[in-house]
Amino acid sequence: MRNPQSGSEFSLSHLLDDIRDHVRPAFGRGRVADYIPELARVDPRKFGMAVVTLDGEEVGTGDCDEPFSLQSITKLFALILALNRGGDEIWTRVGKEPSGTAFNHLAILEAEQGAPRNPFVNAGALAVTDYLMGRSADVAGLMAGLVRVSGGISGGQVNEAVALSEQATAHQNRAIAHILKVHGTIDHAPDAVVDAYCRQCALEFSVRDLARAALPLAASGFSPFSRETIMPARLARRVNAVMMTCGMYESTGSFAYRVGLPAKSGVGGGIVAVAPGRGAVAVWSPELDRVGNSLVGTIALELFVQNAGWSVL
Ligand code: DON
Repeated sequence: MRNPQSGSEFSLSHLLDDIRDHVRPAFGRGRVADYIPELARVDPRKFGMAVVTLDGEEVGTGDCDEPFSLQSITKLFALILALNRGGDEIWTRVGKEPSGTAFNHLAILEAEQGAPRNPFVNAGALAVTDYLMGRSADVAGLMAGLVRVSGGISGGQVNEAVALSEQATAHQNRAIAHILKVHGTIDHAPDAVVDAYCRQCALEFSVRDLARAALPLAASGFSPFSRETIMPARLARRVNAVMMTCGMYESTGSFAYRVGLPAKSGVGGGIVAVAPGRGAVAVWSPELDRVGNSLVGTIALELFVQNAGWSVL
């Protein structure tokens, strides 16, 4: 692989193409999520990666323009919406500590009286969705709107088949929502919250869209695409902090060790990572590791930061 320090040959575009070739032997080591039946239909060998920089560079490789299921990556945009709406109010319902447990863990929530550890585990995300339902009946639409204005893009939509498939099988999330209701963490009916959350998770965008939409997190909250302030700079810092400490579930520590950037994953196989002051990078590869993060996507990000020198650490 080319080295950024080795001279004029280096370009982000070459680097992404090299990474795409380099990760190929790792295909087959992970498993596509199938607990949401409709997600199991995806081609496991898909691979797309895109980078956008504050200098105005934008490059992509592979299936970088193909929409895929954002799933838990939407929790990032949900958190931005909640913080933008009510400032610190959301922290009265949800904590900001790493969980060290699976994203859909139930027992800890019950033991901790319905207080979710952070907004990125499912319990916390359901509480954030409930909070946003107080603002709009169409939470997925609200989120798609944020992605579009942040990234200066027009596409993206809810995959209704994926939404229905998850709504029909979301027994664990319904159990979590009922525990949240018992403890007064959510206002709306548990099933309504889960249905809204499943629609939000079924949003589809490409990695190019995603990298563009995450760029404000690297740019003190400003979108160079729409020329709008998406969030105050202090909020961008806080969201990055929560991603750094909670974004990759019980692999957050090893991900920080390997990649060293705030990031958020989803069981659709996407990961978006932010390098404050430099840019944003997104990757999609549907096969997951045992925690539910993209296996090849993590390797690709590791190669990217090693070669591009992007790290907050
Ligand atoms: O709630 C779920 O199980 C899915 N809609 C999202 C989970 C997810 O993406 C976890 N991320 N790696």
